[in-house]
Amino acid sequence: MLICLPDVLDKAEVAEIRGLMDAASWEDGRSTAGAQSALVKRNEQLPPNGELARRLGARIVSTLLGNPLFVSAAIPLQIFPPLFNRYGAGHHFGIHVDNAVRGDPATGLRIRTDLSVTLFLAEPEEYDGGELIVEGQYGSQEVKLPAGHLVLYPASSLHMVTPVTRGTRVASFFWLQSMIRSGEARSLIYDLDTAIQALVPDLGRDHAEIVKLTGIYHNLIRTWAEV
Ligand code: NI
Repeated sequence: MLICLPDVLDKAEVAEIRGLMDAASWEDGRSTAGAQSALVKRNEQLPPNGELARRLGARIVSTLLGNPLFVSAAIPLQIFPPLFNRYGAGHHFGIHVDNAVRGDPATGLRIRTDLSVTLFLAEPEEYDGGELIVEGQYGSQEVKLPAGHLVLYPASSLHMVTPVTRGTRVASFFWLQSMIRSGEARSLIYDLDTAIQALVPDLGRDHAEIVKLTGIYHNLIRTWAEV
């Protein structure tokens, strides 16, 4: 399942982050690519272990962990330190699957990548092309979101970024290991949670059936969670 979350960062935060990124020095994006990905990847990245990427990444992770929709959709166990990329004219990232396991030498963190996340940091009007295309069970989906919005998609899916033909596409991207390994199970839990949250304003959190559904929500997590 592909889930888009709006307004994870507000426009002022995006502008501040963009200002810091624009002033930084960038490197070839192939520094973090696997062998197959490196053949099809043409973009630039902030040095992953650089002070700026670490600082901005920590800020994004802390914002996301305070976002109830993100937590509900991802049920994160471990979040890989966010990376930052940009695609200028002619840059693209051909079709690939992300590495199944990611290790961070700086912290020793090692995760199974269940979900891939792209947080858009450029407005769609700033560039042409640069769509994220994700292949799924029901065909391919095209994603190009306003700055400050993010998309979560299965890290197991084939995906690509189409060539940028004008302007610059700027984004943060990262992976996470979810407490719920199965995408189907995670999707059921997310749908149940969003349905409960939609009923609460009318029924109240202490309504008997809401209490029962909330119990089912927690018990499904208890059944499937790896912590
Ligand atoms: Ni990828």
